[in-house]
Amino acid sequence: MKRVLPIQFSMKPRVLSGIQPTGSLHIGNYLGALKNWVRMQHDYECVFCIVDLHAITVYQDPAELRQKIQQTAAIFLAAGIDPKISSVVVQSTVAAHAELCWLLTCATPLGWLERMTQFKDKAAKQESIGDGLLQYPVLMAADILLYKANAVPVGDDQSQHLELTRDIAQSFNARYGDTFVMPETRLPSVGARIMGLDDPTKKMSKSETGSGHAISLLDPPSVIRKKVMRATTDSNPAVDLENMGPGVQNLLAIHQAFTGWSDGQMKAHFPGMRYGDLKKTVAEAVVAGLEPIQQRYNEIAADPTYLKQVLRDAADRVSPIANDTVRTVKQRMGIYTE
Ligand code: TRP
Repeated sequence: MKRVLPIQFSMKPRVLSGIQPTGSLHIGNYLGALKNWVRMQHDYECVFCIVDLHAITVYQDPAELRQKIQQTAAIFLAAGIDPKISSVVVQSTVAAHAELCWLLTCATPLGWLERMTQFKDKAAKQESIGDGLLQYPVLMAADILLYKANAVPVGDDQSQHLELTRDIAQSFNARYGDTFVMPETRLPSVGARIMGLDDPTKKMSKSETGSGHAISLLDPPSVIRKKVMRATTDSNPAVDLENMGPGVQNLLAIHQAFTGWSDGQMKAHFPGMRYGDLKKTVAEAVVAGLEPIQQRYNEIAADPTYLKQVLRDAADRVSPIANDTVRTVKQRMGIYTE
């Protein structure tokens, strides 16, 4: 089969990001991350990773994980990531991720990792804490530093991991000589932060399993409608832009993100609208916004050979860059490279 991607990388600044293939990708992931990635791919050389090695830092059912990896890749493409210009990489298919992780682990003080708030949160929920959970941010640093990424678009919950990545890069560079590029954190705009439908004070989360919490990108229209109709609002009867709770704000944000309406259009349409009608309007905007994505998803899912080829090509394409970084790091550290 013909190669989808040329092997050569361009001279554009590089972007890297990653998503774990766990749970179900939802509209918060789309509006906060994927949609931005799609825009960025024209200005940057992009590597988008499906981080399966991160996923196994907590137990995953093997069959389900395997299925989720492919599903995540298919959703990336369906959302508009163009495999002709961007690399969609399953992390474990490029061995250099794990290799660089070990090399960086040996250059990272334990105290830095024990201080990570996400580690502390996750560890508190676990009876026995796997070593991988502690190493999680080092593997993430490896993902980023491997490709000398200039910018990393992430949610603000990942800011501390990005700071750690820069600390690791800086201390490595200071000890072994200039090796790594300092990656910049790119947070999404405020409007891109979508909250849970059941609890609009909490960010919409993939790991939240409550059926009224998130709208999955693959939810059929009937499910989308049901979830929106059940969304938490406030005690007002109708939309009042001057005085609205976080639930109504969230519904309006979702509507605006999917329709691309201007603030003016929003202000002309919604004030005084009763919540039942607001929800119907929002639900239809989400259904219409997701329809083309779901249609492309179904096409891609029906052709597993194509998806396999895309993933293999991307891995082939990025591997020389990743291997080159690992080789330099080994040389700097005195590891045998002959
Ligand atoms: N930790 C990230 C998250 O849960 C996922 C991730 C892994 C990532 N490696 C990355 C994000 C590298 C950006 C860059 O959201």
